[in-house]
Amino acid sequence: MQEHDLTIRNGTIVTAAEAFRGDLGIAGGRVVAMAARLQASARDIDATGRLVMPGGIDSHCHVEQLSSTGVMCADDFYSATVSAAFGGNTTIIPFACQHRGNSLLEVVKDYSERARTKAVIDYSFHLIVSDPTVEAMNEHLPQLIRRGMTSFKVYMTYDRLKLDDYQLLEVLSLANREGALVMVHAENNDMIRWIAKRLLDQGHKAPRFHVVSHDPVAEAEAAHRAIAISRLLEVPILIVHVSGIEAARIIRAAQTLGAQVYAETCPQYLFLTAADVDLPGLEGAMFCCSPPPRDYASQEAIWAGLTNGTFQLFSSDHAPYRFDESGKLPRGSDTTFKEMANGVPGIELRMPLLFSEGVGKGRIGLSEFVALTSTNHARMYGLYPRKGTLAIGSDADIAIWNPDAKVEITWSKLHDNVGYTPYEGRTITGWPETVINRGRIVLSSGTLHAAHGSGEFIPRGAPGPIEQRPAPTPDGRLFKSLIG
Ligand code: URP
Ligand code: ZN
Ligand code: ZN
Repeated sequence: MQEHDLTIRNGTIVTAAEAFRGDLGIAGGRVVAMAARLQASARDIDATGRLVMPGGIDSHCHVEQLSSTGVMCADDFYSATVSAAFGGNTTIIPFACQHRGNSLLEVVKDYSERARTKAVIDYSFHLIVSDPTVEAMNEHLPQLIRRGMTSFKVYMTYDRLKLDDYQLLEVLSLANREGALVMVHAENNDMIRWIAKRLLDQGHKAPRFHVVSHDPVAEAEAAHRAIAISRLLEVPILIVHVSGIEAARIIRAAQTLGAQVYAETCPQYLFLTAADVDLPGLEGAMFCCSPPPRDYASQEAIWAGLTNGTFQLFSSDHAPYRFDESGKLPRGSDTTFKEMANGVPGIELRMPLLFSEGVGKGRIGLSEFVALTSTNHARMYGLYPRKGTLAIGSDADIAIWNPDAKVEITWSKLHDNVGYTPYEGRTITGWPETVINRGRIVLSSGTLHAAHGSGEFIPRGAPGPIEQRPAPTPDGRLFKSLIG
């Protein structure tokens, strides 16, 4: 009989396909046995009354990243991965962000060096492409894709990051040729700039005007345009951090037509609204992200999108900025909504919030929860089946949840370095108690066991579809036969 380094017994094993009572045997960092009953190994975890699920994969988080306005995230690769692990994650995919003038190769070298000595769970990188020079397009991106960074994010907004439509066409076309997936931040830059200028001219500086300037039409227009670009080329895209009913409907309609459009949403669009931003003084800055939280109709539309397949991914978009001059308030009490760092923290609470309010309230099932927080991320970003599932041969990346644990959220109990949480004071039910990454017990009963740098860089393969969709134009577009 095979020796196991670790056994997990008597729990309910949950995958994206099913939930069943069973035992797991782990050896050499991988799952090597799944059976109704296994002998206990020397290290044995009794998971009676617990859910044994694949570790979460947070495929949208900003870690130790310099923003386009020069503000550094509050979390480095240590605090972010510790916080992620306490929230049930075993892998994160943050960004290696190119600013204009930077070489992508140098950017990746820099992020890799910083992550290597600090991360406590596994990680990979998406690239942010803001300067698609000939060298970047012809040499650096193909090289980095071959090194396992098979996805990149492009922006349609932010003056210093945005690409124009021609550049988007070029980047999508390259992604298709080289086997990568393009993630799109879809907001119309000029609409936002135009509204913001007029608001500021009239003296409207408070955080709540951030929401006013990021009108839902700006998001919907950009989503529509990104989808059109994707359809023209017949190249898949993924629209990230979808906030509202308008964009969700546009994405759903395109999917119904057979377009290869995938979408992601985040906790802030289920649990916050514009009213949270409307606080006295500058406090609303703690709830400001782009796109911003909307209204209750949008929250309902986002929940509906999670159950009807509009959204394949539920990520945190953890963008950690402290409520001080190092982050949210670069000009102290004079900071206007246009100068605040954008983003909210959420790497630790992403899964507990969805578990409590999604599974606990009967909106989604356990397998849907696993798909939305882990399996689909692995499939979409080329990590499957090594990660994102519990199967023989998969990495032993496991989170053991107590579905009945009641937790009152307060920032002081979290492990990030942000200093606040937008979800302060809420009580949720369900929490991951034990987290295992490649067979290593990263944490148990609130104690971290993993050392700095024990997480590994995981090169990724080609992005895989979540499900087959019919080709939008079976014969291909006419221009393709003419220009290749
Ligand atoms: O406001 C946000 N989402 N900040 C993070 C950067 C981004 O665009 O995802
Ligand atoms: Zn974005
Ligand atoms: Zn983001």
